[in-house]
Amino acid sequence: MKKLQAIRGMNDVLPDQSVTWQFLENTFSTVVKRFGYREIRFPIVEQTQLFTRSIGEVTDIVEKEMYSFDDRNGVNLSLRPEGTAGCVRAGEQHGLFYNQQRRLWYQGPMFRHERPQKGRYRQFHQFGVEALGMPGPDIDVEVLQLAHMLWQELKLTEHLTLEINNIGNSEDRKAYAKSLTEFLTTKTEMLDEDALSRMHSNPMRLLDSKNPEVQSVINAAPILSDFLSEASKSHYTKLKDMLDSIGINYIENARLVRGLDYYNNCVYEWTTDALGAQGSVCGGGRYDGLVKQLGGKETYACGFAIGMERLVLMLDSLEKVPSSEHKQIDIFIVIIGEKLIPQGLSVASKIRNEYPNLGTLCHCGGGKFNSQLKKAYSCGADVAVILEEESCEGKPINAKIRQLDDSNESKVVEISEISQELRSFLSI
Ligand code: HAM
Repeated sequence: MKKLQAIRGMNDVLPDQSVTWQFLENTFSTVVKRFGYREIRFPIVEQTQLFTRSIGEVTDIVEKEMYSFDDRNGVNLSLRPEGTAGCVRAGEQHGLFYNQQRRLWYQGPMFRHERPQKGRYRQFHQFGVEALGMPGPDIDVEVLQLAHMLWQELKLTEHLTLEINNIGNSEDRKAYAKSLTEFLTTKTEMLDEDALSRMHSNPMRLLDSKNPEVQSVINAAPILSDFLSEASKSHYTKLKDMLDSIGINYIENARLVRGLDYYNNCVYEWTTDALGAQGSVCGGGRYDGLVKQLGGKETYACGFAIGMERLVLMLDSLEKVPSSEHKQIDIFIVIIGEKLIPQGLSVASKIRNEYPNLGTLCHCGGGKFNSQLKKAYSCGADVAVILEEESCEGKPINAKIRQLDDSNESKVVEISEISQELRSFLSI
């Protein structure tokens, strides 16, 4: 029978790889705690209209990438392609935002039917933060500071660049989009199919087109900064001043428009050249209109999401996961002889209680001394505790503790003393 395979673009994380994931997840949860952000969890499946109304009808995600289906009651549902919409829906539904400030974070799988390649998958994981109820730019800077601290903790700062842009408020963009469409109408012979289909419905998406010919058209097009309101410019200038004064470097990228429609004013991405084509590791910005757009009251909001697979790739290829994270087993219990199995299991329990931060593996399934000892070495244990039937015939049961290094130092001890005696072998 043909073996079943995982769905294309959806990855298994095997035990050796999960070490990097755990390192990442632990670092995230430590850093968000330092900043006072609280976790929110919301479903993976939502009504499709939540995403069409928030991300926007004329976006790649909504037009071509969602996993949507009718459930048995005929309701159209979608696997979440990102977290902001669900986070806002949940917060609004449970009254978290009304006249309140919230600092939230989430983590989990997202789904987009994109063409899979290195760093781009159909099921991928995001870690996101959302801050609601604060007009900024102080909170925008705090959110960027949080990301910056993550890079510091992960030792990735030198590999990441912060790109920022001001895309104005919705009125600014409406005026700009009108002028851009008028300009593009005079250049249709130079536009590709994608550009032609977007130039009326969402012309700003053309700004980050990868097609060189479309880019050359855009180079001569009206520029967004000429259409920005004073309020929007002032927000952006203050944001830059604050970044300067706290020492977070950035570059301004006038082409940065983001692929989701809910943003206003400042948007940003942290990018890397360590990943080839999929260089965007973290993206976000301000989205003051979204809560209202989803039926709530006008609410200030900003946030970002990180693509966890991309960070895992970076951490692995740049060898940034500390070797201590790879260590799973410290003490290995070798049991020779079936009669000693209950003692072995109970010694293991005692050791685990005594050293709760260490890993103790009790060998199961029998086997010869040499093969068990080999396993003890290969799992990286520092110490073996050896219980051997022969050595205890007619005598009180003794055990041998053996250092698994070149010294091979060992000591015979009474079973009841093992936990205590281990201390000197473990150098703690
Ligand atoms: P986004 O830019 O669409 O923004 O996604 C954020 C990050 O998710 C990207 O920078 C990238 O690292 C990762 N990512 C996106 N698609 C894929 C994929 N197919 N495979 C692997 N990684 C991927 C958002 O999703 C917004 N909700 C961010 C946000 C939060 N804005 C405000 N708050």
